Amino acid sequence: MKRLGVNIDHIATLRNARGENHPDPVYAARFVKKAGADSITIHLREDRRHINDYDAKKICSIKNLLVNLEISTNLEIIKTALKIKPDFVCIVPENRKEITTEGGLNLKINKSKIKHIISKFKKKKIRTSLFINPSIEDIKRSKKIGVDCVEIHTGRLSNLIKSKKNYSKELKKIINCSKFAIKNNIEVHAGHGLDYKTTKILRRIKEIKEFNIGHFLIGESIFEGLTKVIKKFKRIIKT
Ligand code: PXP
Repeated sequence: MKRLGVNIDHIATLRNARGENHPDPVYAARFVKKAGADSITIHLREDRRHINDYDAKKICSIKNLLVNLEISTNLEIIKTALKIKPDFVCIVPENRKEITTEGGLNLKINKSKIKHIISKFKKKKIRTSLFINPSIEDIKRSKKIGVDCVEIHTGRLSNLIKSKKNYSKELKKIINCSKFAIKNNIEVHAGHGLDYKTTKILRRIKEIKEFNIGHFLIGESIFEGLTKVIKKFKRIIKT
């Protein structure tokens, strides 16, 4: 069975836009689990632009909820993550000016630093993952680092599909990397830019065990839910 992880960072972004408490990401984490998600993902960014320390701590303390915490290699963030003990961590690159995570980790440069970080989480029995581009070299490096999983960045594939360009080469790369990772006993996840169409294409890759989806899923939920909320307000204001 493939698993669905739901990224709820965007709910925190909406909450922060008002500086008040609604919509509450902690409530959202419980809600998403009840709705059928297998896990939730939150990204504690260095600039705390969406999820904050309080959210992360609260969400990680919810019983029977699998939490995947995305973190950079920043020392302070690593310390926080080790303290609040999520079920899973996924190490991601982080650039100050990016709107979202723009690509996979540069394992060529950061291999030993990441290896050290991964060993700390492994000691605490936290499942470890690296967010990487679909590259065989990076799977080999991930193997040397000793991670449990890799999450393949599907942003490029998604952009090609959305702009109706030829995506077969990029898809082939993802297929080859998934097969190679499994052969090396590394679990394969996929994420970034996924919508219904891209997910339908990727679900055919049997090696992919988990999809982590945020922006489209949360955005689409607005349209799935608007009718109900508008009707509720109409009922309330009816004299
Ligand atoms: N997986 C990882 C590692 C990510 O960094 C992100 C983006 O925060 C996602 C999945 C979700 O991407 P999207 O919001 O485009 O669905």
